[in-house]
Amino acid sequence: MRFGFFDDAAREYVITTPFTPHPWINYLGSEDFFGLISHTAGGYSFYRDPRMRRLTRYRYNNVPTDAGGRYYYLNDGGDVWSPTWAPVGAPLDRFECRHGLGYTTITGERNGLVAEVLYLVPRGADAEVHRLRLRNQSDRPRSLHLFSFAEFSLWNALDDQTNYQRNLSLGEVEVEGSAVYHVTEYRERRNHYALYGVNVPLAGFDTDREAFFGLRRGWDQPQVVVEGRARNSLASGWAPIASHQIDLTLEPGEETSLVFVLGYCENPPDQKWERPGVVEKAPARALLARFATPGQVDAALADLRGYWEDLLSHYSVRSDDPRVDRMVNIWNQYQCVVTFSLSRSASYFESGIGRGMGFRDSCQDLLGFVHLMPERARERLLDIAATQFPDGSTYHQYQPLTKRGNHEVGSGFNDDPLWLIEAAGAYVRETGDVSVLGTPVPFDNDPADTGTLFEHLRRSFHYSLDNLGPHGLPLIGRADWNDCLNLNCFSTEPNEPFQTTANRAGRTAESVFIAGLFVHCAPDYAAMARTAGFPEEAEAAAGHAARMTATVLAHGWDGEWFLRAYDYFGEKVGSRECAEGQIFIEPQGMCVMAGIGVPEGAAERALDAVGARLGTAHGILLHQPAYTRYHPELGEITSYPPGYKENASVFCHANPWVMIAECRLGRGERAFDYWRRIAPAFREEIPEVHRLEPYVYAQMIAGRDAPREGEAKNSWLTGAAAWNWVAISQHILGVRPEWGGLRVSPCLPAQLRGLEVVRRCRGALYRITIENRARHQSPRMIVNGHPIEGSVVPYAPPGAVVAVRVEM
Ligand code: BGC
Repeated sequence: MRFGFFDDAAREYVITTPFTPHPWINYLGSEDFFGLISHTAGGYSFYRDPRMRRLTRYRYNNVPTDAGGRYYYLNDGGDVWSPTWAPVGAPLDRFECRHGLGYTTITGERNGLVAEVLYLVPRGADAEVHRLRLRNQSDRPRSLHLFSFAEFSLWNALDDQTNYQRNLSLGEVEVEGSAVYHVTEYRERRNHYALYGVNVPLAGFDTDREAFFGLRRGWDQPQVVVEGRARNSLASGWAPIASHQIDLTLEPGEETSLVFVLGYCENPPDQKWERPGVVEKAPARALLARFATPGQVDAALADLRGYWEDLLSHYSVRSDDPRVDRMVNIWNQYQCVVTFSLSRSASYFESGIGRGMGFRDSCQDLLGFVHLMPERARERLLDIAATQFPDGSTYHQYQPLTKRGNHEVGSGFNDDPLWLIEAAGAYVRETGDVSVLGTPVPFDNDPADTGTLFEHLRRSFHYSLDNLGPHGLPLIGRADWNDCLNLNCFSTEPNEPFQTTANRAGRTAESVFIAGLFVHCAPDYAAMARTAGFPEEAEAAAGHAARMTATVLAHGWDGEWFLRAYDYFGEKVGSRECAEGQIFIEPQGMCVMAGIGVPEGAAERALDAVGARLGTAHGILLHQPAYTRYHPELGEITSYPPGYKENASVFCHANPWVMIAECRLGRGERAFDYWRRIAPAFREEIPEVHRLEPYVYAQMIAGRDAPREGEAKNSWLTGAAAWNWVAISQHILGVRPEWGGLRVSPCLPAQLRGLEVVRRCRGALYRITIENRARHQSPRMIVNGHPIEGSVVPYAPPGAVVAVRVEM
C-alpha cells in the first residue's frame, strides 16, 4: 500500500491518508524562525534555537504519537472534527497533506465541508502564518464554530519539562483585539514574547489550557469545542494557551479564508512596556498587519516558491528516470538546506534539546548547500573554524545561539579537524573566493588569539601528523567519524555517556579511517596552501599524503580489505582475524575515495569485499558480522542490538563514500545501484518496510541482523543528505567544481541513456548534455562546439552560457 505520491511539477509530496506508519514531517522556515509540522499538523515552532526559544510545547515519545501541534477544530452543528484529522480523529471523506518546500497544506473534507490549512513561514518574518480556507460544497447553509489552538511553552524547553515547581506559577498572557500574547517571564529578563492572532473579530477566546480542554479531557474532545462556547479564560500560572473562537455561516458554494499568525517579537530593553504592566505590542501589530489578508499570504507563498525556484536552478537534471530527477532536483537539495539550518537539533528524532551544532556534522553539511548559498556557507565556515583550539583540535559541538564551543562534550574526536579542510576546499572550489583563506578567525573564540583561516587549516592538517600512533597511523582519540567506536573509553558503568566519560590515556588506538580522510583532504589542502602563498607547504603536504598512503598499505591493509583501526592494546579492529566486526565500510569508502590502493588493485579488492560481505537489498551495512555482545574495549558500537545504529545497520551517511569510491574505479553500475538501494524516492516502493518519509534520507536503515530489517529511523537531520548529494550530483552524474574548472565526468549505469544537467557555478551557466548510448573507449567532450582534451571545462566569466556535450 502506498501512502502518497510525488507531485513533481508542484515540488510537493502528497500524503493521502492520516495513517502513515510514522508521522511524516516537513519544515517551515529557512532563516530565523522555524516550524516542524507533521502530516496531521503535529509539531512545534521556535525562534533560532529549539531549546532556548521554543514557542509552542511538544511532547516527544508521547502516546498516542505526535499529539500536540497548532490545531483547528470545527463544530458543525454538534459534529466535531479537525481539518488535519488530528487531534479529533473524526473520519474524513477526503484527506490530503501536501508537503512543499517550506510550506505544508493539509486538507480535510467532511459532509460537504472542505477545510484547507496552509502553514508557512514567510521569508523575512519571524512567524508562522496559517491560512484556513473553508468551502461549503453542500446544498444547505452551514453554521460553524471554529476554534484554533496553540499551546505556549516557556521557551527553555528543557526547563519546561523539568522545573514544574517554578514554571506552573509563571504563566502570563494578555489579550488585545483578536490576538493572544504569551508574556511569561517578560516581567523580568525577557524582552521577547509570542503571539497568536487572527484577522477577524472573535466570538470568544481561551488562554488557559484547563478551561479549554475541561478537567481531565484530552486533545480530541475539548469541552469548549464540544459545547461550541469559549470561556474567555485568562491564564494565570499553569498552562497558557491561545485559542480563538470564530463563528461563521457559509451558504451553499460559499468559501471564506481566515489568516492566523503565530509569531515572535522582541523589544529593545528600554522600550519593553507600553505603559506600566502592559507589554509594548508595536512589533506585533506590524507583524499582524503584514499578514492580514489572504492576498498577503498568497504573495508570501509566491515569494517562497520563487525563492526555491531560484535556489534549485543551481543544479538540475533531466534523465530517463523521474525518481532520479525528483531526488536530485528537489528533495535531496531541500534536505541539505534543512540540515544546514538545523544541524542535528530539532526533528522527530532529535528533541531540540540534546545536541547543538556538531563540528564534523556542520563541516559535512556544508558540502550539500554550498552551491546554493555560498554567502551563508562562508559565514558558517568561519563560525565553525572559530571553535578550533590553538593546537588544531576542536570542540566536538557548538551552540547555535552563542556560536561557542560546548564544554559538556569537549573535544578529542580526532577526525574533526580534517573536516574543516574538506569544508573549506568545497567552499573555495565552488566559489573561487580565495579571500576567505586570508580572513582572520579566532581560536576558541578568543579575539586575542587569531589566525587566518588558512592557518586554521594548517593546524588541522598538522594535528593528524602530530598525533600518530605506533604504526604511523592517526590516533583515534575519543572516536573518529563513527562516534560509537570508542577505543579508549572502557566504560562499565551504565549511566556513563560514551562520548564524554574520561578516557584512558593511551597513544595506541589508531584509525585507518582518519588516515584515509587525511589523504583524501591533502590535495585540497595543498591547493589552498598554494593559493594562500605557501608553495613549500603544498609540496610538503603531498609528501605527507604519499607517506600516509604507504603507511595505510603497509599497516592498514588486511589482505582483502582495509582494516578499521588498532585498539588500545594494539589489536586489529575490522580484520578477518576478528570473530565479529571483520570488515567495516568506513575505511573502504574513504581510502578508495582518497585513491589509496587504486594502482595496486587493493582498492578494487576492498570494494569487491564490500559488495560481497556488506551489500544488502537495503544498502551497505556498516560492518559484519554484527557484534553480539558488549566489548568495553570497543565502546558504544557494541552496545546496540545487532543490526541497529552503529552496530551493523545501513548508515546512509557512509554509503555514498562507497558510491564515490566505485566511481573512482569507473564502476558506474555499482555506484548507481548502491544509491538506488537507499535513495528515498526508490524506497517509496516499499513504504511498509521503510516506514519513514519517502522524500528524505534517514540516518539509518535497520541491517540484516535486526528483526525489522529495512526499517528506517532518524529521518531528516543526517549527514546522509550532503554525502548522497555529493555522490549523485558530483560523481555519478559527475559535475563538480575543481580548482581549474568544472569537471564533467559522469559515471553512469547503462539505464540512464540520455541526460541534461544544468549547473550554475561562479555566475556562469553550463548546459550539459550527456549521451550515454554508444559507448566510446574514452568519453568525448565538446565545449561550445569544440572538442576538448580531458574532462575539465575552464570556468567561464559570470553571465556566460556554456554548452557542454559529453559522449560516453
Ligand atoms: C553523528 C555523526 C556521526 C555519526 C556516526 C551521527 O549521529 O551526528 O557525527 O559521524 O552519527 O556515528
